[in-house]
Amino acid sequence: MVINYQDITLRDMKESDIADHIRWRTVETAWKDWDGPWAPLSFDDPEGFRQKKLEQIRTFREGFRRRFEVDAAGVHIGTVINYPIDEDCNILENHDNATDPAQGRWTLGIDLYDSAYWSGGWGTKALTAWVRYHLDAGCREVYLQTWSGNRRMAALAEKVGFREFRRKPGLRKVRGGAYDGLTFLLDKDAFAAHCRRMEHPSPLALYIPRLEDMWFAQRMQEDPETMAYNAGWDVSYGSYHPDTGCIDLPESTWAAKHQRLVGHEPEQFYAFLRVRETGDFAGYVNFRWDADEGRYDMSVVLYAPYRGRGWGSEALELLLRRAFLACGVPALHNTFETTRAPAIAIHKRAGFRQVGTTQDVRFGRPVELMELELTREAYLNRR
Ligand SMILES: CC(C)(COP(=O)(O)OP(=O)(O)OC[C@H]1O[C@@H](n2cnc3c(N)ncnc32)[C@H](O)[C@@H]1OP(=O)(O)O)[C@@H](O)C(=O)NCCC(=O)NCCS
Repeated sequence: MVINYQDITLRDMKESDIADHIRWRTVETAWKDWDGPWAPLSFDDPEGFRQKKLEQIRTFREGFRRRFEVDAAGVHIGTVINYPIDEDCNILENHDNATDPAQGRWTLGIDLYDSAYWSGGWGTKALTAWVRYHLDAGCREVYLQTWSGNRRMAALAEKVGFREFRRKPGLRKVRGGAYDGLTFLLDKDAFAAHCRRMEHPSPLALYIPRLEDMWFAQRMQEDPETMAYNAGWDVSYGSYHPDTGCIDLPESTWAAKHQRLVGHEPEQFYAFLRVRETGDFAGYVNFRWDADEGRYDMSVVLYAPYRGRGWGSEALELLLRRAFLACGVPALHNTFETTRAPAIAIHKRAGFRQVGTTQDVRFGRPVELMELELTREAYLNRR
């Protein structure tokens, strides 16, 4: 059987896959740091493994599949599997011969063994296709299990439409730390909404800038049209120009800014927005923990030439997904003058609620500021 979904393929195993699996169990083993790292990888009989797999291929029976191999644009990169669990979320013993999709709690697993393919969207496509296979086959309850240290897996599960179902605190001991065992249950409406989103991919993507990319931050910060929203505040630091809102960012300061902003998740996140089609930079997003206020503040800024295309909402959604799914931020907060209708509109459309009003001074006059907040829970409920 072959299932094609966008440029990913789920298919039955073939003989040439066996060498890949042996390599992934002996040489390229980085995946094991994330999949069940509490249990050592024991693999001491490659020839026995090869014979067993050959036998499975030879005696293959049609019917409900328990696993597929995953190809990304024609390259074999991993596996998806399933297994049934009991009502306490433990894997059922002797489940190898379970064949009825309509019976039991089917739990999905995914391994992209080739780490070069991580964080590139392949897991999203493979898991989407694997969930669909189960729903089409008549599975009533679809689960997924991981551990709280595997943020990428947990983020992927929630992105696709799984919601936390059971948490077993401290179940997993990994590299000296204690982590929770997590079981997710598929919310079918959230999955349907995810599938609709997959049909219309965002024109933008997040891009973590390297030091040499900081010219773009300089270009944005020193562009009066882009920075007009930032003009007129009563603050006094040398590089800020209250008349235009611009902030100087000469090359001599790039390294310090880069070091301050990049690589501090989950306390702080900073990324450029990149146009998928052209690779051009179109703005930046960030969030950061403000210890004085006791909250996460955020910003989304589009470079002026890219405004007026509806990309503000796209950028905001990318940031929300990163904050709430990948980093587990509990709530995001943003502040606007009440006159900034477009910015307020995209935040409200994304589910932000007004939680207060404050006063400040701009161009020497009092201004009213709207305090907006979105919680992780409200974000997940809307997806
Ligand atoms: C877990 C795994 C299947 C995820 O697949 P992937 O292709 O890497 O994930 P995707 O690129 O589709 O990203 C899915 C989401 O994870 C989150 N994510 C991606 N990279 C991340 C990172 N470095 N840190 C935290 N979250 C991250 C994002 O929310 C992302 O969605 P978005 O980019 O659209 O916002 C894959 O990384 C893998 O096989 N890892 C090793 C084995 C493993 O952990 N298996 C699961 C065992 S339980």
